[in-house]
Amino acid sequence: MTSSNPKEMLFACHNLWLELNGEQIFAGITLTINAGKIVAIVDNNGSGKTLLLEVIAGKRKASGGRLLWAEGLRPRGDLRYISQCPRFFFWRKVHQQLWRFCVRHLPEMCAELKSAPPISAFLNPAMTNLPLTAMVNFFGMSRYLSSRIYRLSTGLKKRLALVELLVAPAPIWLLDDPFALLDEHGREQLKWLMEAHLRNGGGILITAHSRGLLEGGLPKDACVEWTDMRIYPEEAR
Ligand SMILES: Nc1ncnc2c1ncn2[C@@H]1O[C@H](COP(=O)(O)OP(=O)(O)OP(=O)(O)O)[C@@H](O)[C@H]1O
Ligand SMILES: [Mg+2]
Repeated sequence: MTSSNPKEMLFACHNLWLELNGEQIFAGITLTINAGKIVAIVDNNGSGKTLLLEVIAGKRKASGGRLLWAEGLRPRGDLRYISQCPRFFFWRKVHQQLWRFCVRHLPEMCAELKSAPPISAFLNPAMTNLPLTAMVNFFGMSRYLSSRIYRLSTGLKKRLALVELLVAPAPIWLLDDPFALLDEHGREQLKWLMEAHLRNGGGILITAHSRGLLEGGLPKDACVEWTDMRIYPEEAR
């Protein structure tokens, strides 16, 4: 189930288990996220994939097991978690959300601007030194800049969430079922982004409820370790 070259390891978990309200959700999860590689978890609806990612992202406490970070990596700053159902403040406008990504991840560059830039700055790369136009154009959000988030379709909300990957480099990406809601253009863009991330030495943990959904979306030559949410005996790993 795992391949671990300690030099390449970014993150690993060992024998992780989670119980909620007296019910075992998952157990015996042991995996390693290595630099330049993908761990793909494919399993049924309700098998615990989202809860596992929440545990790794630090949003939920495991009932037991170990989380190991490569030396120098911090769970908060060095991990980017894109939720299966991204939650935003729905009355916020798209450009306000994009600005929040910048403030969260590029505080020093934003401080130079003092206040949020006008919408025109998101369309004109010369207006700031922030990656505003890249953020808007990459996932095709330019048409929606002044839309309130509650008006976006589910797939567009997913695209908006994925923009965070562009603004904030982090070695570890946790992507929860990212392809399920994306159209072909969105998938191609995400594939390209993953390719670049792996080339730069990043690692990815990605989930899906069907292998077919993932196979078309993953970069062609990526090194992928396929797994699921079952418990494997120690000797089989
Ligand atoms: N807060 C909670 N309290 C108790 N049980 C929960 C809670 N959240 C989820 N569950 C249960 O835990 C199980 C795993 O849920 P999870 O959302 O992780 O599944 P999943 O593998 O991500 O499914 P899907 O493919 O549909 O996204 C489900 O049976 C779900 O009902
Ligand atoms: Mg899920």
